[in-house]
Amino acid sequence: MYYKKTEEQIKKIIDRSSCILQDVVDFLYNTINRYSWVGIYIVQGNELVLGPWKGPNATEHTRITIGKGVCGSAAKTGKTEVVDDIHSDNRYLACFVSTKSEIVVPIKKEGKIIGEIDIDSDKIGAFTIKDKIFLEKIADMLSEHI
Ligand code: SME
Repeated sequence: MYYKKTEEQIKKIIDRSSCILQDVVDFLYNTINRYSWVGIYIVQGNELVLGPWKGPNATEHTRITIGKGVCGSAAKTGKTEVVDDIHSDNRYLACFVSTKSEIVVPIKKEGKIIGEIDIDSDKIGAFTIKDKIFLEKIADMLSEHI
């Protein structure tokens, strides 16, 4: 039920905001404690370019080649990536020393990958199937607003 309420609140932000991507990022970061850093990357050519983000620190990875890192893998395959323990995934591009797990959810429009939601957590195995389903819905809602 928790996610349903959050999903409805995000729908309202999308309907009302003039700064949709940043407001949704802020809302996710502020509402769900396990989400330690939240960002949206936008596909530009063969790269992912960092758009709105919220977290304690900026990432050095503001441009990621498609195919590189966990973010680039999700952009290449179009499939959500859930990494329970980033230390056991050699694709991982390090951003923050505190990060333990990560989820990357592609944003698609007419079957084409146009961006993605990237969330880091300071908790190991922070992202469950519920987070995956929830964030895939949010990615669908955002696809018209990239
Ligand atoms: N860890 C990501 C890079 C982006 S930062 O987490 C913000 C990756 O492996 O692609």
